[in-house]
Amino acid sequence: MKKTLALLLALTMVFALCAAPAYAAPKTYKVGIAIYQFDDNFMTLYRNEMLDYFKSLETDDVKYDVTIVDGKNDMAEQNNQIDNFITQGMDAIILNLVQTSSADAAIDKIVDAGIPCILINREPLGDKGDESYEGILNNATVCYVGADARQSGTYQGEIIGELDNHGDINGDGKISYIMIEGDPENIDAQYRTEFSIKALKDAGYEVECLDDQIGNWAQAKGQEICANDLAKFGDKVEVVFCNNDAMALGAATAIQAAGRTVGKDIYLVGVDALEECVEMVNDGTMTGTVLNDAVGQSHAAVDVTVKALNGEAINNYYWVDYVKVTKAA
Ligand code: BGC
Repeated sequence: MKKTLALLLALTMVFALCAAPAYAAPKTYKVGIAIYQFDDNFMTLYRNEMLDYFKSLETDDVKYDVTIVDGKNDMAEQNNQIDNFITQGMDAIILNLVQTSSADAAIDKIVDAGIPCILINREPLGDKGDESYEGILNNATVCYVGADARQSGTYQGEIIGELDNHGDINGDGKISYIMIEGDPENIDAQYRTEFSIKALKDAGYEVECLDDQIGNWAQAKGQEICANDLAKFGDKVEVVFCNNDAMALGAATAIQAAGRTVGKDIYLVGVDALEECVEMVNDGTMTGTVLNDAVGQSHAAVDVTVKALNGEAINNYYWVDYVKVTKAA
């Protein structure tokens, strides 16, 4: 009797084992994301969107173990972080360079370690033309995801050029402006500075640069520079061009403090279309901004990372369009 029972039990167990679905652990990919500086309004939107989007792509079979680090605007720190990512055996690295002039060395390390490298937001130095990136992006596992900053600069210039008075408030025949620049090494800053003014000149307007200062993308710097310029040049300042919205937010504070009124005796434009700036455009306290599509770019960056993780071929460039933002009619 005991024997029969034992046999039955053994048989049941064998059946149970056979009937159970084969258990496969999900495949987990390790992704390292190095951000140039967490304390940057635009990159905060961008990085949070990447994290959310990676999560949304997870299935029972595929997981993404994402580690994100703050380069604190220090290239030495970011180099250490890249070394750590390599030692930790990351399957892919998303890199928002602190210094684009250090692109070669940073990318070489990652490529040598056989890890796909997805550059975001800060385009390695050079022109968008094919020739400039040889040696940097000329590699099957390296790409850049971003937006062509020339377009954003052109849109800023057009926003002013399309005003009834074309930015020439005092009617002296020239548009007198101040330019508040981002990090001077950054191609976005260079292109926005150049192309905003080029758009005005190309449209046949005369321009006068009263001042051009480095604000390093930071709100507090934008405020300081704009306040100083308003104190120095007074009513002469007709247009304040800011390479990004964070600095435009600072400039808006300075403009208000100086008793000036956007849309009446001064104009103010930025880039990024941060939520608070879109509101300001709509209530008239900013003349316009340009959408730097953080969602579109972060999704494109994650999508191409997933492609690379799946061993699929990737392109060297992925471009996302800017969009002009002015007051809703
Ligand atoms: C954005 C800036 C940001 C910078 C960081 C630019 O594309 O417009 O807001 O501070 O990237 O590199």
